[in-house]
Amino acid sequence: MSIDHSKKKITVPSIIKMKEQGEKIAVLTAYDHLTAEILDESAIDIILVGDSLGTVVAGFENTIPVSMDMMIYHVSIVRSAIHRALLVADMPFLSYQTSIPDAIENAGKLLKEAGAEAVKLEGGKIVADTIEKLVGFGIPVMGHLGLTPQSIHKFGGYKLIGKDDKEEKQMIEDAQILEKAGVFALVLEKIPAKLAKKITESLRIPTIGIGAGQHCDGQVLVTHDMLGIFDKFHPRFVRRYAAIADTMHQAFKAYCQDVKSGKFPSEDESY
Ligand code: KIV
Repeated sequence: MSIDHSKKKITVPSIIKMKEQGEKIAVLTAYDHLTAEILDESAIDIILVGDSLGTVVAGFENTIPVSMDMMIYHVSIVRSAIHRALLVADMPFLSYQTSIPDAIENAGKLLKEAGAEAVKLEGGKIVADTIEKLVGFGIPVMGHLGLTPQSIHKFGGYKLIGKDDKEEKQMIEDAQILEKAGVFALVLEKIPAKLAKKITESLRIPTIGIGAGQHCDGQVLVTHDMLGIFDKFHPRFVRRYAAIADTMHQAFKAYCQDVKSGKFPSEDESY
């Protein structure tokens, strides 16, 4: 498909404007060039190179082992595929928690070497100073609260966060702090819809929900989940728009049968 240059480039200010204008924001992940190209040709607003690539692409048990080198590689191959969507890159575990200079250096690499237009990092108050510095130096930051997968060992599993009054109060406070620190958008992962609504209504910047209900300003899913490529586990918040794993199983089986029976290649498929 050819690129439609009449479509306007999505920028950080245009994402904030979408909330002001009541337009919902559509976000999906990409880790490779071809998927990113197809996504960019759709109506997607933000392409996130998530550290979910650790589980989805690399087969790790969680996102903790993901390195800066992995992120730089995947962000750069996605970068060269996209023209319209805003490109956001996740900062992997321990690329920003160790010190503010480390965070600036690593976020800088994601923009300078890989071509991201913004970074995303997890956490509340504890990362506020880091966010303030990054934003001050011109690096747009997306926040991430709720179930933050880099803290999986602290949570002890992928559970719903913000269920009791204490967690709810903490998250509302953290959201305010992050907005003040300068994030341009905030991912809310696996929290009660009622809490996501409260946070969304209290912020000027858009919230992007994943398992956070319908009141967020936008939604994000992991592309492999919504396409049904990853089909081993089906969280309730994932709507499957296709069953690609089934199609792949059928196609691979048919190919093997055709090769073994001598049906492939045919004369038409030969020179
Ligand atoms: O890593 C990721 O893909 C994410 C999204 C699921 C929000 O953080």
